[in-house]
Amino acid sequence: MTDSLIGRTLKHYRIESLIGSGGMGVVYRARDTRLERPVAIKVLRPDLVADPDRRARFLTEARTAAALTHPAVGQIYDIDEDGGTTFIAMEFIDGRTISRLIADGELDLLGSIDIGLQIAEGLAQAHEAGIIHRDIKSDNIMVTRDGHAKLLDFGLAKLLEAGTAAPGTPPGALDVTLTMGQPHTLAGAVLGTIHFMSPEQARGQALDPRSDIFSLGIVLYQMVTGELPFRGESLVDTMHSIAYVDPKPVTIVRRSLPPQVHRVVARCLRKNRDDRYPNARDLAADLKRLKSDLESGTRLSLTPLERLSGWIEALKASIPGGNQGLFILAAAILATVVLLLVKLQGGSLFSTAVIVYFLYRWIRNRKKRMVHAFVKKAAAFPEIRAVFVRDDQVTVVMDRAPARTYVKINGLIDAINDKVHFGAPVKASLRDDLAEADVQVLLRTSSLAYGREDALPGFRRPEIKA
Ligand SMILES: Nc1ncnc2c1ncn2[C@@H]1O[C@H](COP(=O)(O)OP(=O)(O)OP(=O)(O)O)[C@@H](O)[C@H]1O
Ligand SMILES: [Mg+2]
Repeated sequence: MTDSLIGRTLKHYRIESLIGSGGMGVVYRARDTRLERPVAIKVLRPDLVADPDRRARFLTEARTAAALTHPAVGQIYDIDEDGGTTFIAMEFIDGRTISRLIADGELDLLGSIDIGLQIAEGLAQAHEAGIIHRDIKSDNIMVTRDGHAKLLDFGLAKLLEAGTAAPGTPPGALDVTLTMGQPHTLAGAVLGTIHFMSPEQARGQALDPRSDIFSLGIVLYQMVTGELPFRGESLVDTMHSIAYVDPKPVTIVRRSLPPQVHRVVARCLRKNRDDRYPNARDLAADLKRLKSDLESGTRLSLTPLERLSGWIEALKASIPGGNQGLFILAAAILATVVLLLVKLQGGSLFSTAVIVYFLYRWIRNRKKRMVHAFVKKAAAFPEIRAVFVRDDQVTVVMDRAPARTYVKINGLIDAINDKVHFGAPVKASLRDDLAEADVQVLLRTSSLAYGREDALPGFRRPEIKA
């Protein structure tokens, strides 16, 4: 279907050649035969516009996007249909995508900050007009030969939202049902999109302009380091790290970067949107300041507080085990100080031993208490059939569930491991593919901490003590 369009016309657009394709359709270079100018034509995937509701929502969004005029926003010229083919005619950008520029090794620090600044300004105008991009990523930003950055596909991601979302699903909700062991696809989107999601998207919550700021933060991170901040072996792993894991500071990945770059990128990438830049204007202002400092070669000076937090980050990065390592180091220093004091003051060694023993018991049982609390929280998810616990291994048996359930459960387990500073971490296995026989095996080898009423025939639901 794709190649057959070349040489044909859609309305007054003559299709000349194929440019590329993505999650929503195929992009061609074409010629507007009325205005005699080059255009890019995106032919939308027919299944995405088949549903009338979804189509209507998309058209509303596209109309708002078409009203945007900003040098950093790829202009939408037209949305039309010809013989059942729905297409968007837009400004043809003669340039390369950011991903291409990164792959070609052609971005330096100043260039990256400048691109970030242009995009932040375009984004600010769009947000002020009430439109969220929803799909900011390095494939959706192109840079022309003379250095103009252009943000493409404004609002088009609306098309990928479930048209038949369950009632109560917030707009922007990501509803991808995962089955273990099968390749995961996200509503037809290319997997690359996942790496630029905001935590809100990963958790299936409603989006707002600050979600775009997060995604732009990922693009900035990628431009200045050449690496993605959140990467996992699978889709769920990646979404999990977006939702819960703090990325390595850019200044740790590339030691030559000034700390100010870290400050700006890190503020875009805060998990809690209240901690991010409140709007794209403020981000643009910081990028502008950074750009002029870089251009004038000003020594980028730091406040004492920034210096201290930079020092702690560097320490964290150099100690194995991150936060946990830092905790153990702090505990060791504290223990040495206490012992020294006891020795100096000749205090009773017996009372110290008693305190240490109770402290030890309290810490040892802490993991158990937290796993118990986890089971209680997991029991609140309707899709969870049972939770088995055996030593440090937790097995969660569930129905096929949306990705965000996996992300949430993994997040709860991570929260435990963040607080467990001694002994082995809790390992969780999330299973939605267990046959009854497997469940029987689990029942023999592990203890059943929770079982949904209907899910485990023949077994009574154990009491969960308060
Ligand atoms: N207006 C345009 N001018 C020139 N080239 C474009 C234009 N729009 C898209 N392209 C090119 O076509 C390719 C495919 O774009 P498309 O938007 O379909 O995919 P994508 O950006 O990878 O994914 P998504 O569907 O999520 O936006 C892009 O990588 C880009 O190189
Ligand atoms: Mg695109």
